[in-house]
Amino acid sequence: MTGEVLQLRGVGVRRGGAALLRDVTWTVNENERWVIIGPNGAGKTTLLQIAAAMLHPTAGAVEVLEEEIGRTDVFELRPRIGLASSAIAEKVPTGEKVIDLVLTASYAILGRWQEEYDSTDVSRAVELLDALGCGELIRRTFSTLSEGERKRVQIARALMPDPELLLLDEPAAGLDLGGREDLVARLGRLADDPAAPTMVMVTHHVEEVPDGFTHALLLRKGEAIAQGKVDEVFTAEHLSSCFGLPLTVDRQHGRWYARAAR
Ligand SMILES: Nc1ncnc2c1ncn2[C@@H]1O[C@H](COP(=O)(O)OP(=O)(O)O)[C@@H](O)[C@H]1O
Ligand SMILES: [Mg+2]
Repeated sequence: MTGEVLQLRGVGVRRGGAALLRDVTWTVNENERWVIIGPNGAGKTTLLQIAAAMLHPTAGAVEVLEEEIGRTDVFELRPRIGLASSAIAEKVPTGEKVIDLVLTASYAILGRWQEEYDSTDVSRAVELLDALGCGELIRRTFSTLSEGERKRVQIARALMPDPELLLLDEPAAGLDLGGREDLVARLGRLADDPAAPTMVMVTHHVEEVPDGFTHALLLRKGEAIAQGKVDEVFTAEHLSSCFGLPLTVDRQHGRWYARAAR
């Protein structure tokens, strides 16, 4: 690979009369860790679906892992991408065991049926669950887990096929303070691991951005209003125009804080 994991040129997505994304040009290189940030409805999930090869743009050109969307078999491409999002969590069949939810990711399917898994698959799933602090949950049913446990299991599932690109849509949404801090620390360690895949995480809170994330893209009303190195993008000026209110922004020990300016 030449190092370009994602390349979007002039990407637009229209649904009905609405422009969900407008003229987005964005490049993600190998080993970068990106955060996509913006208010509710800005188009973050839509942009992540483009990156996941789950959605074709209505305008512009998209390359994912050097495959051009529209000219490549997305069914071969998708197993190279790990995606964790609540849209997937909602589709988990009732009664699905945690271990099976992680194992089935090798086939990019949901719901264990009669596939055969060899012992290396099983030990990889167990190792990933262990690394995310879910070693105790292996035999539990997914639907009985707490929100924090579910989020961590979903990340283990996304990592199962050893993806070249890891996409996380609001991984900390719905967590309590302890759960959020635990997840942010884990994602920070993953970001620091040179063997980890290229990562793109969506959030609407700068407080959820782990230390070790290198780049940021700010979305407002479907448009990328700033992008680049995280410390050049996370300025009061950029974040204020992104969220549409005057903000002050601080950084402490590698973490970011934003609040309304007085
Ligand atoms: N199928 C659809 N038809 C029309 N509008 C949609 C559709 N899906 C999403 N939207 C709208 O597109 C905008 C962007 O959605 P989304 O990408 O989910 O935003 P975000 O993840 O930043 O909250 C929102 O205003 C949403 O209501
Ligand atoms: Mg969203």
